[in-house]
Amino acid sequence: MELTRALAARGEVGRVDLLTRQIFDRKVDAGYAEPNESLATGANLIRLPCGPRRYLRKEVLWPHLDSFADHALQYIRQVGRVPDIIHAHYADAGYVGAQLSSLLGVPLIFTGHSLGRDKMRRLHDRGAKISTIENQYKIRQRIEAEEQTLENATMIVASTQQEVRDQYADYDNYQPERINVIPPGIDLSRFCPPRKKAQRSSIQANVDRFLKAPEKPMILAIARADERKNLGNLVKAYGESPKLRSIANLVIVAGNRDVVARMDKGARKVLVSLLALIDGYDLYGSVAYPKHHQPEDIPLLYQLAAQRRGVFVNPALTEPFGLTLIESAASGLPIVATNDGGPTDIIRHCNNGLLIDPLDTHGIADALITAMEDSAQWHRWSSNGVDGVHRHFSWPGHAKSYIKAITKLAETQETLTPLRKNRLPTVDRMLVCDIDGTLLGDRLGLNQLLNEIRSSRHPVGFGVATGRNINSTLEVLDEWKLPIPDVMITCVGSEIYYGEQITKDKTWSRQIDYRWDPIALRQIMKRFKGLKLQSRDSQRPYKISYDVDPKKMPSVREIVHALRLQNLHAKVIYSHQAYLDLLPIRASKGLAMRYLGMKWGLAPERFLVAGDSGNDEEMLCGDTLGVVVGNYSPELDRLRGRSRIFFSDNEYANGIVDGMNYYDFLGDIQVPDDEGKTT
Ligand code: GLC
Ligand code: MG
Repeated sequence: MELTRALAARGEVGRVDLLTRQIFDRKVDAGYAEPNESLATGANLIRLPCGPRRYLRKEVLWPHLDSFADHALQYIRQVGRVPDIIHAHYADAGYVGAQLSSLLGVPLIFTGHSLGRDKMRRLHDRGAKISTIENQYKIRQRIEAEEQTLENATMIVASTQQEVRDQYADYDNYQPERINVIPPGIDLSRFCPPRKKAQRSSIQANVDRFLKAPEKPMILAIARADERKNLGNLVKAYGESPKLRSIANLVIVAGNRDVVARMDKGARKVLVSLLALIDGYDLYGSVAYPKHHQPEDIPLLYQLAAQRRGVFVNPALTEPFGLTLIESAASGLPIVATNDGGPTDIIRHCNNGLLIDPLDTHGIADALITAMEDSAQWHRWSSNGVDGVHRHFSWPGHAKSYIKAITKLAETQETLTPLRKNRLPTVDRMLVCDIDGTLLGDRLGLNQLLNEIRSSRHPVGFGVATGRNINSTLEVLDEWKLPIPDVMITCVGSEIYYGEQITKDKTWSRQIDYRWDPIALRQIMKRFKGLKLQSRDSQRPYKISYDVDPKKMPSVREIVHALRLQNLHAKVIYSHQAYLDLLPIRASKGLAMRYLGMKWGLAPERFLVAGDSGNDEEMLCGDTLGVVVGNYSPELDRLRGRSRIFFSDNEYANGIVDGMNYYDFLGDIQVPDDEGKTT
């Protein structure tokens, strides 16, 4: 949300919509159900339905993400403007973002935050079984989503160089030239140096009641009670250094606890061993470990430590980022931290402290002493930290670098192919035509049709729906010098492509892949007379096609019946008394078109559909506005008399133009009622 606000505050940015999941659940705040929340001028938090209404942990969201993407498309239609950039944060958003980016023709930017391969390795190192990791974290799906996202992304924004080396480099789609390291910012209004006359706070009282000489410099550590945070070695370093013990107190803020015995196992183990160390070195009176603190106490703790000329320490075994280091630096507190990714970058930028080896307790003690002993140096580090954070780790700074990177991207043609955005979210009606025998056949009629669409005062989308495959579709469109349509439904509705990018709709393929067994189907079909498999390029993953001899072949009903007896399922489509197509039962030109309507948010009445033969039948029926051109093939005769199917006397594109006039399709759209009257 902080990033969203910072981006929206920039003059180059018109608007930022932050899309997340809508949740209705008594266990979470009612605000999570709010569909739209304004964050700042030009910045909105949008919550979209995604699967069940209740709260779900992120690992079980995967099956619902397609629905999130669909709702995002509807939302974009509602806004009426296709975004210029989609930035996905984390693997699940990456999955959605990759889909949206290819559907809309908009560049994708990705920030992984943490990546699955690294997580899997760490869990595995800790002794977790691969099967457990898989069940609990759905890690394979996450990694695959990350691979796909990286493959699709035009740019990746990482927080540190180390993240690039240790996390992204592990992926098949690692392309370092696409990665930009732009560290995140912190909310600087929360973290600032102490004022001269600071007030006593309740957290100060809570800390000081542990200490014999609270005014001494304060070594502050704030970290979860987690093995990896290495707090035990910090206590050892302190306990074993008489000098350190004499010059400073140690304050450890490790989460909140009520009853130690009821803490979760990992945290309890860490805490109990800390207490034992404190007891063992007899550190009573010089180490504080408050039971409770509130989020608003954190800035006060940094300030208190700064006021007492102390130091912030983060001795974690590894530290990819280290937000607390930046917060303490912003508060004017010098830092001592593990020599690892995040701290290295921070100290390089800020020059406000020392790096340590987290396993070397003497080294830790020495560094802490050095940081506090020399007063001139302490003041230098204190102010270096404040300046450095403002320069390198503020959200306005981040937003500025981000815009610069995007601008550069837009200028280099190789990395950002000048995409033509998908128009579908902005059209309010759509003409979908069969190609052979409908759209093509009469040049003059076609010219007239194209002119009428072009000069329409409404945004009209244009699509074709054909039995041809995509290559032969593109070929014939080119032959007739037609522009590339917004949508191409090909192979009798078993494939869908969008726009000039010719982006395949993969969700559609996945959706129709149901009870489809092409090998068995082909086998059974061999028993029928009068059928001959068409050439190889007419056979597609989701379409089996035959040329037929109408005199010899059995009826479509007989074929369907025979298939069902074998427990085989297919949609059997007969056209022009010459072709027979088998498709998955969820595929057809008609279903593909309805899917388009749902996906892109257009009601059936906003579609005018034109055809001439049997493979157009399904898309002509239903609530869409149908037009059968004059040169139609006899199998469509049975559609006569339906209110929403207009039979034109004119042939080819002339018939389409006639149908458009009949429905006033480019005007106010007249929808005939069941008696055939228009309303
Ligand atoms: C097109 C396709 C063919 C299909 C026919 C009917 O001609 O190339 O494979 O059988 O349409 O749908
Ligand atoms: Mg046709």
